[in-house]
Amino acid sequence: MKCIILILCLFLLGAESFWKRQSSEDPRDVVRQGLLNLYRISNSVGWFNSTGWEDPESEEYCSWYGITCDEKNTMITLNLTNNNLNGKIYNEWKDLVGLLHVDLSHNNLTGSFPKSIEDLDDLTYLDFSYNKLSDVLPYLIGKGTWTKLQTVNLNHNEFLGLVPSAFELLPSLTTLDLSNNQLTGLLFSDVKKGNLLQCDLSGNHFRCPIATWTESLCQAECSDHVRAPAIMPKLALAALILFWISFPLAIMAIFVFEKGWGFWKRGTVHYQPVNMDNPFDDAE
Ligand SMILES: *[C@@H]1O[C@H](CO)[C@@H](O)[C@H](O)[C@H]1NC(C)=O
Ligand SMILES: *[C@@H]1O[C@H](CO)[C@@H](O)[C@H](O)[C@H]1NC(C)=O
Ligand SMILES: *[C@@H]1O[C@H](CO)[C@@H](O)[C@H](O)[C@H]1NC(C)=O
Repeated sequence: MKCIILILCLFLLGAESFWKRQSSEDPRDVVRQGLLNLYRISNSVGWFNSTGWEDPESEEYCSWYGITCDEKNTMITLNLTNNNLNGKIYNEWKDLVGLLHVDLSHNNLTGSFPKSIEDLDDLTYLDFSYNKLSDVLPYLIGKGTWTKLQTVNLNHNEFLGLVPSAFELLPSLTTLDLSNNQLTGLLFSDVKKGNLLQCDLSGNHFRCPIATWTESLCQAECSDHVRAPAIMPKLALAALILFWISFPLAIMAIFVFEKGWGFWKRGTVHYQPVNMDNPFDDAE
């Protein structure tokens, strides 16, 4: 009897935890929690319009400000342009599965490019323009996932480094705007044409020359005398320190060269004959 009750209890416990797991993995709940996280980390109280977002009980996010759903109630657009978002940009985009259009332009978002947005493989439109995003763009941005992405607007931010080579691998990309950032390097082979129809790379710090197609299709300037980036003083300091460390080493090297390697070994190296009959018998 006891045994049957025990088995029954175990079964109920198992069923309960199974049910709990099921409910917490409800896809609509994952999306809703993701949206609430985005709201929380991007200065929720300051949003110009937060209709729907501020009510923790509101389940039906399709009616929240900036969100559009399709006829199956799947969220397809997140448009929070010019809504006074600030703080670090949201970086758990895989939770917002199904999005086609993302527009967070004209806000004050900071941080680096949110790599997790590559997991949105239905994305066709991405706009983070007019924010304060910085750092280097991922070199293989969207490779293999963004097969439908048509438009990328990352202009008017503070992105650094090279133009990601992956932009040539996005098969549907027709519009690319990376203007007014701090991008550098040679634009010779960094971006190949792909299917691009429109492209703006102006307002950056590229070095000359610029590939012919880029010149004809994209707005882009280059300079033979690229303004020294902020990293230069640090490099100069590092070089100076390296010099001061290596100076005594150099003197020593010259000394060794003159006198030969033996000058400090003489008298310290001491060979002992090994007893071949019993090599483990250490001669003391
Ligand atoms: C805020 O968004 C809601 C829902 O989209 C809309 O009905 C309302 O008019 C907006 N309010 C303002 C002040 O723009
Ligand atoms: C977002 O909304 C603004 C106006 O509120 C509109 O101009 C813009 O085209 C929209 N972006 C997308 C991707 O739908
Ligand atoms: C960004 O923040 C500054 C002050 O920190 C403010 O003046 C400006 O209006 C903000 N811009 C947007 C688009 O919210």
